[in-house]
Formats: sequence, structure tokens, C-alpha cells
Amino acid sequence: MRRTKWKAASRAALALAGAGALAAGMALFATAPASAGTTLGASAAEKGRYFGTAVAGFKLSDSAYTTILNREFNMVTAENEMKIDATEPQQNQFSYGAADQIVNHARSRGMSVRGHTLAWHSQQPGWMQNMSGTALRQAMLNHVTQVATHFRGQVVAWDVVNEAFADGSSGARRDSNLQRTGNDWIEAAFRAADAADPNAKLCYNDYNTDNWTHAKTQAVYNMVRDFKSRGVPIDCVGFQSHFNNDSPYVSNYRTTLSSFAALGVDVQITELDIQGASATTYRSVVEDCLAVARCNGITVWGIRDSDSWRASQTPLLFNSNGSKKPAYDAVLAALNNGTTPPTTAPPTTVPPTTAPPTTAPPTTAPPTTAPPTTTPPGQGGCTATVTVNQWTGGFVANVRVTAGSSALNGWTVTIGLPSGATVTNAWSANRSGNTGTTNWTNVAYNGQVGAGQSTEFGFQANGTAGSLSPTCAAG
Ligand code: XIL
Repeated sequence: MRRTKWKAASRAALALAGAGALAAGMALFATAPASAGTTLGASAAEKGRYFGTAVAGFKLSDSAYTTILNREFNMVTAENEMKIDATEPQQNQFSYGAADQIVNHARSRGMSVRGHTLAWHSQQPGWMQNMSGTALRQAMLNHVTQVATHFRGQVVAWDVVNEAFADGSSGARRDSNLQRTGNDWIEAAFRAADAADPNAKLCYNDYNTDNWTHAKTQAVYNMVRDFKSRGVPIDCVGFQSHFNNDSPYVSNYRTTLSSFAALGVDVQITELDIQGASATTYRSVVEDCLAVARCNGITVWGIRDSDSWRASQTPLLFNSNGSKKPAYDAVLAALNNGTTPPTTAPPTTVPPTTAPPTTAPPTTAPPTTAPPTTTPPGQGGCTATVTVNQWTGGFVANVRVTAGSSALNGWTVTIGLPSGATVTNAWSANRSGNTGTTNWTNVAYNGQVGAGQSTEFGFQANGTAGSLSPTCAAG
């Protein structure tokens, strides 16, 4: 299992910078920084989080820019300088000058650095765009290894892979030259990054993954769950959160963050900007992060509106002249009013122990012959047992369904929840009811269970589980 690194990083930053440093994850400051409540970074640190911004290296000579950067933020992401085209412009010729300048600016002032990004279909140098197959896979792994090694000890987290899923309703991987090297390219990149920098947090980062009901969100969720269940070294998921009229903020964003966190990963908001910079929406985003213990930081994608990649949307916290916008005040207030993370840890185990199928269930019914039994399907009944992972305010339940003396062709589990317990999300079963008596039936791929065999489903809920006594019925 990979180590928790945010705490160590914040200690190092504290030692360097004293008050204005980063904290994240479960790390809590014993004493409040001197500037508590007056800057984004200090206020976030009081809540055990960081507040970061994207930085463009060529702006570090602009004193209006650096004045705000140095005052407000305690995490930095290079806006372009660590991307593949910047760090390996010719194959095997690495170029770190622009990135090093940003890293040095940040770290010498006690800010931490998120690395962005090691493997991505976009902003590839020409030589890589023209590669394919095994040669590309090797070149990608070499890039990950070299760059992660160069910055080892200097970045607290890497966006190892960026934007690997398609938009729309397919839930499929995005087609790219990297994807065409084989579906395992993402986990290969994570393993290479882990080998090169075992102490950095390793993140998957994407956009349009904010709405819990979207296919893309679910697809990334399923990949992370699969990675956790198979021991692929992933520590965190970044939500870019570029909110605009086409991809607006939605109130289930908090459910998205908490559902990913329940898989045993940290979550971060990595590239926040909001078209029009509604103070209300900015406040909601901050409140959503503060409500999720494992949401350990927020990064806005630029400082002033004029710095934004979408400047015409005026999506940031500072006007082009550097003055604070109403959204800034809303964010600061939300950081100062928010609750501190619970001192008891949320579950670090992966909720489902059985991974869902990564391929679509068969469209034809699997059994072409009757089950080999003299007992008709299901007449041997079934049993259900539950394992609960409880933390303050919530729990994950894993339910094991075991067939009796004959095979099951469908099952229904009934679980009575104590008052105050409300299901927030579930996997590998259909559900009716989210409070009180809840009924759970098999989904297409796990209804047929051989005699004496088992399958599992699970759910996350708010509240306290107490002792649950599930019952199981065949059919
Ligand atoms: C953007 C930068 O802000 C621009 O300067 C650049 O021209 C294009 O990339 N998702 C990401 C970021 O992960 O790297 C992108 O940054 C914005 C979308």
C-alpha cells in the first residue's frame, strides 16, 4: 500500500515557510497560522486543505501577478511547463528549465507543487504524436519515469494520466494514440510513476466528471474501483471542474466527491474555473470539498481573469486588475466557516471486493443448458451477510449473497436501516428505498450464482449502521 504523503509534505512546507504552509489529507494544524482567515491558503490550511492556482512561468516577472500568488496560495500547478511537449520536446532530450523555475518559486516560498501531467493525449510533442504501438508505449513509460524522477521529492502529487475517457454517454475510453497501445496503458503509467517517485501522490485527472449521473463520471469511478481492487498504485482523483454553460456545476457534485473518496482515494479539485464566477457557485464548490474528509485541496486555473485560458468567461477570483471579486469573498468565507475534517479516518479499504465486469455483460443469456441440479433454481434459497466499515457520520456496507443448495437465477436482499441512515450510492445491485427497509436485487451480471457460490454488492450511506441483519430470497 502506498504511503500517505500529504502530511509529510505539509510538515516540510511548514518547516520551510512557517505560517503560510500547506496542510492536507488528515493533517491538522495544532495552531492556526498567523494570517488565518485572511488569505485563501491560510484559511484552507486551517481546514486541513490547500488552496492552489495554475501558474504560467512567463508571468513570474509580473509583480502584480506574483504579489497575489505569493500572498494567497500554498499550492502551485504549472499551467503548461510540465506537459509532455514542454519537458521532452525531442525524444530523450528533456527540458526542465521552465518547470524548474515554477517549482523553485513555489517551494522557496513554502508552497507545494502538483505535477501536471505525465501522460496525456494532448500537448504531445510532434515526435510522440507520430508514434504508435510498442514504440509509443515504451516512449510514454520512459517519459513518465524520467520526468517523475527529475521532480522526485519536489512535487507532492502527480496527475499521472490526464483526460483518458471520452465525453458523452458511451462511458468508453477516449480514442488516442496512447489508448491504441492497449487498454492497460493507464495502469502501466501509474506503475512507472510509482517506481520513479514512490512518495508522490499519484492521481488520475479529468473533466466533465463532476456530475455523478454522467456516464463519464461512472466510467472513471469504475476504473478507480478496479485499480484499487487490483492494487494498481493510485492515490487520488483530480476533478478539473471547468464549469460553464455546457458543463455546469450540479448539486450532486458532493456525492461525486464523496463516492470517489469512499473508494479509498483522496480527491482534489484541480483546475477550477466557473464561467461568470458566480459567488454562490464558488461557495458551493468549496463547501462540497469541505464536506468530504478526503477532499484535500482546491486549485483554481489561474489568478486573474486575464490569466485564464478562458479569459472571456471571466471565470476566476481576481479581476484583470488584480482586485478581489465577489467570488473571492465567497470562497474565503466558505473556507472560514467550513467544518474541519473528522478526526476519525474514513474507510481506507475499497468497498467492493469483487470488481464489476469491465466488459459488457453478454447479450445472450449465459446458460444454454439448464443448471445441473435436480432442485429447481433458487429453491435452495440464499443467505446474505454484511460487513460494515463505519466512520463518524457514514459507512460502507459490503453484502455477500450466497446461494443455498441450488443455483440462484436472481436474488433479492432486504436490509432494514436504522433511522438516520440514508443510502447515498451503491454498486452491483438495483435498489429500492434508501432509508428504512431497503430492497436490493441482482443486476444483469450477478444474478446467476451457482449452488454454494457467492456474489457481492455494496452501498455507502450517511448515518450509523448499527447491526444490520440482511435477509435473502431467491428470484
Ligand atoms: C490549458 C492551459 O491553460 C492553456 O494555456 C493551454 O493552451 C492548453 O491547456 N485541461 C487540462 C489543462 O488538464 O492542462 C488545460 O490547460 C486545460 C484543460
